[in-house]
Amino acid sequence: MHDMRVLVLTGAGVSAESGIPTFRGKDGYWRNLDPAKLATPEAFARDPQLVWDWYRERRQLIRDAPTNAAHEAIAKLAQHGDEFLLVTQNVDDLHARAGVSPEKMVQIHGNIFVTRCSRCDFSYAGRGGSPEPSGTCVVQPTNGRLRSIAATFEKDADLPRCPECHALLRPGVVWFGEQLPLREVQRVENFLDRDGCDVVIVVGTTATFGYIIDWALQANRNGGELIEVNPEETPLSRFATRRVREPAAIALPGIVNDLTNRGAL
Ligand code: OAD
Repeated sequence: MHDMRVLVLTGAGVSAESGIPTFRGKDGYWRNLDPAKLATPEAFARDPQLVWDWYRERRQLIRDAPTNAAHEAIAKLAQHGDEFLLVTQNVDDLHARAGVSPEKMVQIHGNIFVTRCSRCDFSYAGRGGSPEPSGTCVVQPTNGRLRSIAATFEKDADLPRCPECHALLRPGVVWFGEQLPLREVQRVENFLDRDGCDVVIVVGTTATFGYIIDWALQANRNGGELIEVNPEETPLSRFATRRVREPAAIALPGIVNDLTNRGAL
């Protein structure tokens, strides 16, 4: 009996029940906010203060958010077999906090707790014990929209700067229009090149990006199970061998129990 090979792909929906908004779902960030103003290199060049304020607010929200039963079920699955990889589009640390080890996880869109230089290779990671400095609130709690602020150059004086080259530091996440981190792409491709998977689980993502669909299908090439956990239909739904239209924290514990009880893991 061979070790069951498992690929899990997650998106913002897996952290929704921890209180972290999704992007395109109901109450998602991109319903009210314009990604071009917050999550592009051009936005950062135009108004780094606004971008930093938004990321600091999100860091604080994530620090305060508990893991949920979906993160815990995925961590249990990760611990069960060696042939396991989690590819998450989430920049939060909830999979790690639930116990998925770094060698079994790829954060393909980066990590919100990494701060890196916008020019050179300098970077550092850490959740930080203290709250983020209280800037002004970027997203208005009443309507979820951006408050209007005028970009002022004096404000840049408060922004963190690189100790090596003095350029502005930025959050260590992938923005629209940027390349995925090559080393992380290679880790996914190495895992997939070795063999197809017996089980692919896709959780809480609209699968907007082609590479997410490609990786799911490549992993499923030997005709194993492709399980989608998402209350809504997505472009991946038609390829799924099983569609679970329930919230992740409800559905995943049972799915993982079934898989681990099969004994092949
Ligand atoms: P989206 O916001 O696009 O999609 C969230 C998905 O989760 C939707 O399909 C929802 O139906 C589903 N969902 C909502 N609640 C759920 C729950 N409780 N359980 C299971 N599913 C649930 O988020 P992503 O697909 O992760 O990238 O978005 C991908 C990328 O687009 C993000 O990483 C981010 C964003 O722009 C960058 O910032 C580069």
